Amino acid sequence: MNADPGVSRPEESGLPGLALPVLDDDLAARLQSRLERVERALEGHVVSRAPFVTEAASHLLAAGGKRVRPLLVLLAAECGPTPDSDEVVTAACVVELTHLASLYHDDVMDEAALRRGADSANARWDNHVAILTGDFLFSKSSELTADLGADAVRIQAETFTALVEGQILETLQPGPGQDPLRHYLDVVAGKTGSLIATSARYGAIFGGASGDVQAALTAYGEIVGSAFQLSDDILDIASESDESGKTPGTDLREGVPTLPVLMARASTDPADARLRELLGADLTDDALHAETLTLLRAHPAMDEARAYVVDQAGRAKQLLSALPEGPVRQALEAFADVIAVRST
Ligand code: IPE
Ligand code: IPE
Ligand code: MG
Ligand code: MG
Repeated sequence: MNADPGVSRPEESGLPGLALPVLDDDLAARLQSRLERVERALEGHVVSRAPFVTEAASHLLAAGGKRVRPLLVLLAAECGPTPDSDEVVTAACVVELTHLASLYHDDVMDEAALRRGADSANARWDNHVAILTGDFLFSKSSELTADLGADAVRIQAETFTALVEGQILETLQPGPGQDPLRHYLDVVAGKTGSLIATSARYGAIFGGASGDVQAALTAYGEIVGSAFQLSDDILDIASESDESGKTPGTDLREGVPTLPVLMARASTDPADARLRELLGADLTDDALHAETLTLLRAHPAMDEARAYVVDQAGRAKQLLSALPEGPVRQALEAFADVIAVRST
């Protein structure tokens, strides 16, 4: 199914924009067909009795997205005997709807104009529409979770709590005496690691994996989930185009310190004096923002941050030793690798 032996191209395997190489053609085909089930189901889940709500909620669903979280549910489900169950597909919808809700809200917080290559909901309509549509999607996700039973409801509720806490913590300074890097890593684990960990956990649970495998996949998801946000933060600085479907440089403009910024700030090199000064300034000014991006992109902190993420991916892969060797474990290893070095 592919020209390059052993590597299925996303456009050939149909796997989403993450460009996940799946070595095993049968596994790629199974994932592909389940992702299509997820996609059809999602279209139905964003329908409201109010046509305008359907329009607002469909807007970002239809605009694209990599479907990383549903894919992880489906991959983790392959670790058990029932990867094809309706519950697995429902769980994949739950995590994507929860994620989608958080994007509507996040774009209000970040005053972002672009999302998934489309106008953000706040730009297209206004903040009220974006916030209420996010609420609607979160409610839909919760309704759907009820079909999965009380344990799944509790997990989803705890996950959303952690996600929201992470988003709020990001707007606050580190506590007195708290290491800024520790604060940042707490933010990341909450706002992004939690839902990606739940994706792996749901997959393992509804695929019927053993308790040990559920625990290993949850721990793997936590690390991979944080690594995913770290690479997103690196891309926010490194991207010179809006290939990601978002506006690069948003974190700096919003004054959100991320891993490369924290690492550059720690430099004592006198040559970094200007960059350190800029990183302490208000970067809503276009010229200052552009100067900071240029200096930061050329700074060794970028590679230091990338190396940290690759290291985290390595830690996550080690946890997969709890799984039998084979195509599924290989795909989960590739998932960690792709996340660490992703370009979109
Ligand atoms: C964006 O998530 C928000 C983060 C947690 C970094 P994704 O990069 O998964 O966004 P989509 O779903 O592909 O649009
Ligand atoms: C937001 O992080 C994470 C959530 C949506 C919970 P970012 O602000 O970095 O996400 P992007 O870059 O806008 O996608
Ligand atoms: Mg954002
Ligand atoms: Mg970002």
